[in-house]
Amino acid sequence: MRYPNIFFKGFEMKRNIIVLLLLLGIGSVFYVKAQIKSHVTVDGVQIPDLNKDGKLQPYEDFRLPDSKRVSDLLSRLAIDEKINLVMGTGMKGFEGLIQGMVVGGTEYMVPGAAGTTFPLEKYGIPAVVMTDGPAGVRISPVRKNTPDTFYATGFPVGTLLACTWDTKLVEKVGKALGDEVLEYGSDIQLAPALNIMRNPLCGRNYEYYSEDPVVSGKIAAAMTNGIQTNGSGVSLKHYAANNSEKNRMELNVHVSQRALREIYLRGFEIAVKESNPATIMSSYNKINGKYTSADYDLLTTILRDEWGFRGLVMTDWFGGYTDAFAAIQGKTKEHNTSEQLKAGNDLLMPGIPTQKDDIINDLKSGVITEKDLDICVERILNMIFASNTMRGYQYSNKPDLKVHALVARHAAAEGMVLLENNGILPLASNINRLAVFGSLSYNFIAGGTGSGDVNKAYVVSLSDGLKNAGYTLDSRLSNLYVPFVQKEVAKVKEHMKSNPLALIPLMPQPQLKESQIKESAVNNDLAIITIGRSSGEMDDRKTEDDFYLTREEQDLIEKVSVQFHSQGKKVIVVINVGGQIETESWKNKVDAILQAWLPGQEGGNAVADILTGKVNPSGKLTMTFPVRYEDVSSADNFQGFPADKPTDVMYKEGVYVGYRYFDSFGVKPAYEFGYGLSYTTFEYSNIKLNDRDFDKELYISIDIKNNGSVAGKEVVQLYLSAPQSDIDKPLKELKAFAKTRLLQPGEVQTLVFRITPKDLASFNENRSAWIADKGIYRVEIGASSQKIKQAETFNLSSTRIVEKVNNVMNRAIEFKDITR
Ligand code: BGC
Repeated sequence: MRYPNIFFKGFEMKRNIIVLLLLLGIGSVFYVKAQIKSHVTVDGVQIPDLNKDGKLQPYEDFRLPDSKRVSDLLSRLAIDEKINLVMGTGMKGFEGLIQGMVVGGTEYMVPGAAGTTFPLEKYGIPAVVMTDGPAGVRISPVRKNTPDTFYATGFPVGTLLACTWDTKLVEKVGKALGDEVLEYGSDIQLAPALNIMRNPLCGRNYEYYSEDPVVSGKIAAAMTNGIQTNGSGVSLKHYAANNSEKNRMELNVHVSQRALREIYLRGFEIAVKESNPATIMSSYNKINGKYTSADYDLLTTILRDEWGFRGLVMTDWFGGYTDAFAAIQGKTKEHNTSEQLKAGNDLLMPGIPTQKDDIINDLKSGVITEKDLDICVERILNMIFASNTMRGYQYSNKPDLKVHALVARHAAAEGMVLLENNGILPLASNINRLAVFGSLSYNFIAGGTGSGDVNKAYVVSLSDGLKNAGYTLDSRLSNLYVPFVQKEVAKVKEHMKSNPLALIPLMPQPQLKESQIKESAVNNDLAIITIGRSSGEMDDRKTEDDFYLTREEQDLIEKVSVQFHSQGKKVIVVINVGGQIETESWKNKVDAILQAWLPGQEGGNAVADILTGKVNPSGKLTMTFPVRYEDVSSADNFQGFPADKPTDVMYKEGVYVGYRYFDSFGVKPAYEFGYGLSYTTFEYSNIKLNDRDFDKELYISIDIKNNGSVAGKEVVQLYLSAPQSDIDKPLKELKAFAKTRLLQPGEVQTLVFRITPKDLASFNENRSAWIADKGIYRVEIGASSQKIKQAETFNLSSTRIVEKVNNVMNRAIEFKDITR
């Protein structure tokens, strides 16, 4: 047999190898050139030809690992270039206010983006683009000089996504969202947001996932894994303890190290360890006297040294200034810029001139060294080199919005929570004529305001969703509501013109005569009422006329229920709110309540999917609905003091947040954590532990059977009750959860949960360690925090230090956390 002789024939072989190598060499030069060429054609960015000098510098060489390229470039940068790089560019719209800000020069890249990094054109390093937010890519939908539109999908808000308890689904939403990040030319999505819902009134709770850190962390990890699939990056925000909005840039959160580690940091810890977020955004507030963006212990000791985070940290927009706007205008100078960089907050978003002065002065006086700066610059370059823009990705500006709308609709229906149902749902086929009440039925709220808002092409209102599903709506009511609502919407639009981040006031209800309601009850088969709330950045919700219903809303529910019930007809309430409202005083007046949250652009269709039974509801609450606002553990201590402009807030409830408090202190909720109804029922049986003595880990299995008559999914929750010791512990805590697949009637699925030593441990401040106490642990598996279906116990034979950590971030002011 003759071998292909270039490899095996003496001299000829050598010659041929040389020829081959030469060919490979030439080929790779072309390859690299081609890479760089595609790199320089990034939409709209003028990047000079890197190869003018005909030589390929190591940082330009696509064949080298990013780390080599980054360190080569770092060694070439002048100090001024480094300073520019740690200051990002900012949002359009602020230029008037922010004279001379390092801003605006990159706005042409993706109009409406929140910011970019600073481009280093001399080296061909493009700016990378950052866009908000948790419910979709927030960019300008229209642009100058083109009739094309750039709408993004309005996905359901974070709260709804978490209430699916379905990490696979959330990852799928993340993938669709990430596709829009990529195809609209963005690199970093400023999401997910996973602050703990400490109190129902936080204005941004709708963006957040849960009052529980395990849910928050797992859902955030799923979202991160989804978005980052295609090389886009996320920014986990707001790290940490940004749990209220009022005076958020000045607020000092006083909290114990234990509550921090167990509640407020734990979700971030899980997300960092279970996904690999490209970036993290520090929050506006201070913790125990220090701005989070200038806190070395938070950003370096805990985040990097203890958890192993390798990405970069950026500030929230203008974060780290007591009076950011005065600082922007050069009216005040606070010298924490260098402290921020030294703490491990690598990127100042967006940079402002006074910060540049700070750095230059501090370099001169030795407060900060070039080495300190290099650490931040290196992390920024790492992010840039890993970005799709740097890769030269040719984005289309044409993500598949149709497919993503289907993802949004599916997710929306999966996260809605059925709170009450006296048998009316799913609607029987003889129900056709619907009387739809409540202004917001005709103007459904898709998402919250502020940076979490998305410029979507449309929102399917509840009335449209019901019509799409084939129902006939009472036209007398529509004729009354539609023009009323249109007028109100026009007012809101006018109001938002001057401030796109403004909060939207509650939409009033039109006056309805008793006789009109009566007529409706006679002529229709059923009534549906929507109760809605909008909330957003920079302020919190209120108790009056917000958590509690307004007089108008109470009257509407009362009158509609009386009239419809007197005709033997039923009433359904749809709650279109991103968080909790009071339900106890009126829930028995109506026949079904569906918590629809802020369900994104396909909201009305998704509600119809649930009402018709096309989708069997399977969402469950990731937060407790209190009977009264005063029942919440932080009710007296929510925004802090002084009331008009709070500067300090005491987290006196310690670890007793949400169900940890309600359960441990015996306070009855309206709907407990983990609660949600289905159109079918499930049987839990056969709980099994693989061991009775805990060693390194433990596996617990349980069988879930659909013993009803329609297919459905069940969210199954695993709680652990730890033995009491010198540390006061909550009655039980969620440690794991899973959602079954769609189970047909009679079908069984076995779920398996894994428990690790950290799940057994509480944080012991005196010993700076996570400690698992010896004794009997009770595993409870249930359909909610209060509907425990099966329980077992296991033993830990000796007390264990699970993890020794640094003793940091302690309170500056001593106070006692509440105990049981
Ligand atoms: C918000 C962030 C957001 C940023 C950029 C800030 O006001 O707190 O969540 O990502 O603006 O828009």
